Amino acid sequence: VITGDMLSEIQITAHRGSSNEAPENTMAALRKAVDDLADYAEIDVQETKDGIVVLAHDFTLNRVAGINRTIGSYDYDDLVRLDVGAWFSDEYRGEYIPTLKEVMEYCKGKINLNIEIKNLGDDSDLPEKVVQLIDEYQMKEQCVVTSTRFSYLVRIKKADPQIRTGYIISAAYGNFYSSDSIDFISIRSSFINERLVEAAHEKGKTVHAWTVNGKSEMERMKMLGVDNIITDYPILAREIVYREAA
Ligand code: G3P
Ligand code: MG
Repeated sequence: VITGDMLSEIQITAHRGSSNEAPENTMAALRKAVDDLADYAEIDVQETKDGIVVLAHDFTLNRVAGINRTIGSYDYDDLVRLDVGAWFSDEYRGEYIPTLKEVMEYCKGKINLNIEIKNLGDDSDLPEKVVQLIDEYQMKEQCVVTSTRFSYLVRIKKADPQIRTGYIISAAYGNFYSSDSIDFISIRSSFINERLVEAAHEKGKTVHAWTVNGKSEMERMKMLGVDNIITDYPILAREIVYREAA
């Protein structure tokens, strides 16, 4: 049963920052997410050749900088020189790829972070690096860590059982609900129905829905009682989440 109390508890996550208003995974998108009063900003992280944790969704720079090279082939000093704002609009010319450190410094005390660790294979030390940074900035309460790579979440919990983790899935199958390595599931909204939300809640896991950009899908998520809506449009999501039932 969905009660009024539960409805008001839905949190909103700005996907890659407020990525409809500013270029994804940049400081500008994070500032917008703070201005938009999102509860969380979701960011994607990868590692440079010299081991710096940076924000980037795609593995190559094609889409955001027009360069056919991978993030992992750059040292950070070279990567930071690239413009990743101009592709979005002239207004954001000069935006660069930020480090996770810089993002934590800015977000601490302002907005929670959903740090999505991109799948760089089992040889990558990215999960442990992320734990180290969360620890360094004392942001355990303010961060959750997510990944499509389940083994990364196991490693996060091993490094620090107090860090909350979410498993990103595109379809609901398997018995991951029961796993001690995850606190929530982050799932493509089209796969979410009443049974899934109930099953997850019964196992003590919350449900984050992505990437919910349409008004009617936001309303459906609200009706189903998901716990967190991940969206490029946090202002619209707020309007819907906080709107009282007619
Ligand atoms: O956090 C979930 C969502 O970000 C997954 O999709 O491809 O935008 O990282 P993607
Ligand atoms: Mg993501």
